[in-house]
Amino acid sequence: MPHQAYQIDKMISAKQIAARIEELARDIRARFSDTDKLVVVGLLRGSFVFIADLVRELDLPVEVDFLEVSSYGNSTESSREVRIFKDLRGEVEGRDVLVVEDIVDTGHTLTHVMNLLNARRPARIETIALLDKPSRREVPFKATWTGFEIPDEFVVGYGIDYAQRNRNLPYIGKVRFTEE
Ligand code: PRP
Repeated sequence: MPHQAYQIDKMISAKQIAARIEELARDIRARFSDTDKLVVVGLLRGSFVFIADLVRELDLPVEVDFLEVSSYGNSTESSREVRIFKDLRGEVEGRDVLVVEDIVDTGHTLTHVMNLLNARRPARIETIALLDKPSRREVPFKATWTGFEIPDEFVVGYGIDYAQRNRNLPYIGKVRFTEE
């Protein structure tokens, strides 16, 4: 449970997100137009809303799979651990893979996931993140496609949580802490 009172200010509307997803889907379709075996991998839990909207715009033969990961800092922020809670159901060897993430922050999660998946020898692997906070990066990582670059704000909604709440907001909001 959050300990401090807060309000949520709208930052990116549902309409803006939908319009951006249409643009991104066009690029993705063009990039993978030659494949009949695209595996779209959502990183749980944060990507569940984004992947649902994205795959419905793709109009490509896709399989959908999920990897559940969570990252948490230890005493030294730069050596974050990324834990796999649930692995993929399917094989990715020789497949074309699109990894779908809600947000890239320090970069540890996607760096770790890409090392893990590349070791399984996919034919091709690309990444898409709805949000990117480049100013927070601790390890260099650039997704193939990014929806929106945002400043270092605490964001929630459209899959992203604060203390497991607010994932169901249809827009991206900024958390503003208020006095009790
Ligand atoms: C969040 C977010 C990304 C990751 C990004 O996940 O969904 O997966 O952190 O941060 P990074 O670039 O600093 O690694 P979290 O571990 O909170 O799990 P969740 O997706 O289940 O909310």
